[in-house]
Amino acid sequence: MAQVSIVYWSGTGNTELMAQMVAEGVREAGQDAVVCSVEAASAADLKKEKAFALGCPSMGAEQLEETLMEPFMCELDGAIGGRQIGLFGSYGWGGGEWMRDWEERVKNSGAAVIGEEGIIVNGAPDVKAEEKCKELGRALAAAVS
Ligand SMILES: Cc1cc2nc3c(=O)[nH]c(=O)nc-3n(C[C@H](O)[C@H](O)[C@H](O)COP(=O)(O)O)c2cc1C
Repeated sequence: MAQVSIVYWSGTGNTELMAQMVAEGVREAGQDAVVCSVEAASAADLKKEKAFALGCPSMGAEQLEETLMEPFMCELDGAIGGRQIGLFGSYGWGGGEWMRDWEERVKNSGAAVIGEEGIIVNGAPDVKAEEKCKELGRALAAAVS
């Protein structure tokens, strides 16, 4: 069984719920999912994987969370060429600019964003968001098999 890592940061649990839903999709498709908060994750190990998922809500002013996720992402920048990466996160009042910037950043590193764009959810994920997250999980499972 191949393994898919899902690394996330979440302050109030919405993005964490999305991470669990992505993992469910991976498992439904017959692969192993490892959900890991970013403080416990190793960028060096993640770089070795050909497909994985990253989750972070919109923080600051349309930015990645700055104390843990931003430095983690800096470690991945330029070192993830050829990887297939799923992006997801929750937001509040903005228009999703943080995710568009994140997609561009990943693509500029030579990686592909699975589904061409990240999954963004206003507040807590609903049933529709759950299906999108599971679909991402299934795509990740296909990418590692
Ligand atoms: C300090 C802070 C900054 C935020 N900045 C933004 C923002 O720029 N744009 C936005 O749409 N939402 C913003 N939000 C709202 C969060 O993205 C939203 O509450 C989200 O659901 C949090 O996800 P989580 O439960 O995974 O932490 C901010 C929230 C906090 C606490």
